[in-house]
Amino acid sequence: MPQKIYPRSKDKETVYLKNVINNPSIIIGDYTIYNDFVRDPQDFEKNNVLYQYPINQDKLIIGKFCSIACGAKFLFNSANHSLSSLSTYPFPIFFEEWDLDIKDIKKAWDNKGDIVIGNDVWIGYEAVILAGVTIGDGAVIGTRAVVTKDVPPYTIVGGVPAKPIRKRFSQETIDSLLKMKWWNWSEELIRQHIGEIQSGKLDHLR
Ligand SMILES: CC(C)(COP(=O)(O)OP(=O)(O)OC[C@H]1O[C@@H](n2cnc3c(N)ncnc32)[C@H](O)[C@@H]1OP(=O)(O)O)[C@@H](O)C(=O)NCCC(=O)NCCS
Repeated sequence: MPQKIYPRSKDKETVYLKNVINNPSIIIGDYTIYNDFVRDPQDFEKNNVLYQYPINQDKLIIGKFCSIACGAKFLFNSANHSLSSLSTYPFPIFFEEWDLDIKDIKKAWDNKGDIVIGNDVWIGYEAVILAGVTIGDGAVIGTRAVVTKDVPPYTIVGGVPAKPIRKRFSQETIDSLLKMKWWNWSEELIRQHIGEIQSGKLDHLR
């Protein structure tokens, strides 16, 4: 995996995400790219990973070879004002004002867990992924989808809330790809087989 920030030397709108992340709670796989033509893509942590407070210890885990389009956002648990409370007003956050114990601050929100994205996932323009969601390898998230539930591998989803539109391939092909896991091959092997991956020659890859 190259250590450089920009995969294309003259394109400052696209970054290798792994190489611009400083937050240890955000774990990005090799070659995953983020494109942003509105803001600096190097500010992904600040602009795209929202409400992920260190106190909550929730994680954003994204696999290898994912393509993340401009403005896609990951909304973490602290955004979920508690619905088990009689009021959604986040009293525990304003502990000084209301003489509450700071150690109870997490009671202000409902915790739904980490966001885990597989490998070779394409996330469309301005899609929103909510806390607790797992997205399988090879899935596609349509533009402006709001993903509230897990997405199976190689499934295209869209809409609000995001629903399956179709599978990308036959179940047999999906099973082969999930077994093959080409994204874990050596860089050299991938380099040798880009042609077959691009043109869908699964038999050659097997
Ligand atoms: C989802 C997507 C990949 C298309 O997949 P597809 O399988 O070719 O889908 P089709 O265009 O054949 O549409 C199939 C159905 O899904 C619907 N659909 C397509 N995209 C949708 C979206 N983003 N949200 C909701 N519904 C969507 C279509 O309206 C159609 O509905 P119907 O069956 O009721 O008529 C594409 O629409 C999309 O959203 N691409 C993201 C583009 C992007 O954000 N690029 C960023 C730069 S990398």
